[in-house]
Amino acid sequence: MHEIVIYVLGVSGLLAVVSFLPPLAAHFRVPFTVLLAGVGVLLGAVVQGFASVQGMGPIGDFFASLAGFDVSAEVLLYTFLPVLLFETALTVDVRRLMDDVGPILLLAVVAVFVCTFAVGYALSLVSGFSLVACLLLGSIVATTDPAAVVGIFRDLGAPRRLTMLVEGESLLNDAAAISLFTLLLGMLTRKADGGVAEAALAFLENFGGGLLVGYLCGRVACVLVTPVRDQPMAEITLTVALAYLTYMLAEHYLGVSGVVAVVASALVVGSIGRTRISPATWDALEHVWKQLGFWANSLIFLLTALVVPKVFAQLSVAEVGLAAVVVVAALAARGAVLFGLLPVLSAAGLAQKVSHSYKAVMLWGGLRGAVSLTLVLVVSENDRVPDRVQAFVAALATCFVFFTLFVNGTTLRHLIRLLGLDKLTPVERAMRNRALALSLGGVQEKAAELARHYEIERAAADALITHYAERLSHIDLEREAERPLSAAERVTIGLVILVNREEELYFHHFKEGISSRHVAELLTGRTARMLDAVKTQGRDGYRAAEEPFMAFTGWMRLASWLHRRFGITKPLARRLSMRFEVLVAVRLVLRELITFTQGRLADVLGTETSCELEGLLTVRLQRTEQALGALKLQYPDYAIVLQNQYLGRAALRLEEADYRTLHAESIISQEVLSDLQRDVELRRRILEKPPQLDLKLNLPEMVRRVPIFASVPPDRLARIVKLLKPRLFLPGETVVRKGEHGDCMFFIASGAVEVIVPGLSEPVKLGTGDFFGEMALLSRRPRNADVRALGYCQMLVLHERVFRRLVGRDPDLRQHIEAVADARRQPAPQPEPDTEQAAPATT
Ligand code: CMP
Repeated sequence: MHEIVIYVLGVSGLLAVVSFLPPLAAHFRVPFTVLLAGVGVLLGAVVQGFASVQGMGPIGDFFASLAGFDVSAEVLLYTFLPVLLFETALTVDVRRLMDDVGPILLLAVVAVFVCTFAVGYALSLVSGFSLVACLLLGSIVATTDPAAVVGIFRDLGAPRRLTMLVEGESLLNDAAAISLFTLLLGMLTRKADGGVAEAALAFLENFGGGLLVGYLCGRVACVLVTPVRDQPMAEITLTVALAYLTYMLAEHYLGVSGVVAVVASALVVGSIGRTRISPATWDALEHVWKQLGFWANSLIFLLTALVVPKVFAQLSVAEVGLAAVVVVAALAARGAVLFGLLPVLSAAGLAQKVSHSYKAVMLWGGLRGAVSLTLVLVVSENDRVPDRVQAFVAALATCFVFFTLFVNGTTLRHLIRLLGLDKLTPVERAMRNRALALSLGGVQEKAAELARHYEIERAAADALITHYAERLSHIDLEREAERPLSAAERVTIGLVILVNREEELYFHHFKEGISSRHVAELLTGRTARMLDAVKTQGRDGYRAAEEPFMAFTGWMRLASWLHRRFGITKPLARRLSMRFEVLVAVRLVLRELITFTQGRLADVLGTETSCELEGLLTVRLQRTEQALGALKLQYPDYAIVLQNQYLGRAALRLEEADYRTLHAESIISQEVLSDLQRDVELRRRILEKPPQLDLKLNLPEMVRRVPIFASVPPDRLARIVKLLKPRLFLPGETVVRKGEHGDCMFFIASGAVEVIVPGLSEPVKLGTGDFFGEMALLSRRPRNADVRALGYCQMLVLHERVFRRLVGRDPDLRQHIEAVADARRQPAPQPEPDTEQAAPATT
């Protein structure tokens, strides 16, 4: 048969077999991967029997084609592995991964090393093979398989955190194990030992290089996706190309780990790309990748499992004994990491605590799969590896993989059940029942409405409504049987609902085009952290997590520092406009949440709890409004532009919906609709650009607001203006710190500051037109007080050298400044702050 016919027949036949496996797995309640492995071995056995049988039509040809398959490891590595890894990494929630990054990295990297060395040394003691060969085998069996592990954990409905831990581990340890494997294979075939330090360096280069290449490729893809936005086919195709190109670039051209690179690029796309890719496409993209991942995993498994019967047939008793050593050593190594190292990491505060039952499941659930089998194939195909070693590695690694699949994989479900991990906690059950009550109540109401709308016969409608009412009352009964929840638990339940809703609303506003991508990215990230805080600490967690919504971010502080230090204004203006947008978006959502709490949530949780929740939301709303008010005070025009933009985007949405209705009613043709939509799109693009914020650091205007310069003649004033530097300070920012060397003084052009004078019970407030920082310059001594900005403050900064020149030439100015400084030195009575000038403290 022609070669291509063999391949097409073989692969399509395998796909046909695979398509029946998910329902079979569900029916027999075995994990899909385990069934896949079983079927693979079975097929392998049949293939060996049928290889010589001729003339059986297509079925015979199919088996013959499988027997004739020359699946090289390269084919598996280059064709299926990138897809498999990209798909698993794409679904990982990077933020959650970061929460548990300590234990995940420990398991992924350290556990791989511990397992490799444990298996390697144990085998080298009993097998008579060289240490490097044994270590090579160790690295093959060190990697847990993402598809196998994730599939089983998701099937079993294991808790999310546990799933996340094993998922993250299995993803990253592939990368670590394959890097280590490549290194050991090189050592084995070159016969050069190279030394431990050199090997470690090579490993780091390989791993780190892969990480960097993957990250950069992912970022580039996120940029490239912008021009093809809203073109689902193009966007999805770009991600497929990304997976392969990243792998190629890293592995083939740059000589770093392709596996690590693919995983890194998928993590970037999964986190940053999620908001770059149009929301409608994202769902389709996930489906496509799920499908591709399913094919890749199934085919790798079946193709590698085909040769397993041959391996098993040649198995000697001694090899079975050695396989037992591998099993014991690998389990012991994993156990040592989980029960020995992980607690140390938790005690050091580097990782969250992981319960013993989780650890037990993680120990038993470390299944091996397609990646290990592919690596076995790599060894078998390498001519430079001695035949004896090839057979040894193939036999033991295959035995081990199948042991984990058939023994661990089939019993994991029982272990999870035995440990009670599949059960909802009482609070979770209560939440489930409340959520159910909330949704069923709504559906019941809507069904009644629909029945009226469609004029459905009463009897038919009543039957449905009664059904819902029965379900509701059933849940009510269940709820009555529940242990009554404490007030704190009720609040926690409410907060979990509210935070989930908050995240959904941010995403919804982005989807609707009301808020921008950056804002959605930032806010959904914060709500995710808030959710975790609420789940672990309830109300206190919520309070603590609300702080980042208001606080100035590290980026903002950096931008402010750049402005203060070097006079660079652009980043600060950008950050401030972003803050504006974020505050407006948060305010909008908080208002919606308050309405939601007063309505639906009050029905389910009771008025007492809902009042408390409303209180928490109201406090947040007030703080948000306060912060927004402070910004508006400084930049009233910008606030108007921004609101205008919001309204514009909302109006565009309405406009577009209207056009669609007109088209649906056949009033306008498709051509007219397309034309109108193009116009809307054009205007939307304009509205999407964030308006530029002018920091309003207009020097002459600012100088005019400082009375001390009012009497200076215009020609001299023009020269003074050139010597002053305009600077903006953020609310709460420390302008001057006590004890520091003072090299400048400040004039307040707008805003207010507080001076924390040692020995005074109340801080002294200074406002627009006042100055400070003069004492250090006059006395040449360190600053004598802390000065903090109360709101947004525009200041004029006068540097020491210029100050001396200025006061040297202008005795009046010097006298005035000295008089103020003298008055400030007097211990009492303290000058009353000028209420007109000292603006109220705003944040
Ligand atoms: P300097 O010592 O350079 O830095 C801290 C500044 O706080 C100081 O200059 C004054 O400008 C200001 N300051 C110190 N004490 C008072 C006070 N009692 N009232 C108002 N401002 C003060």
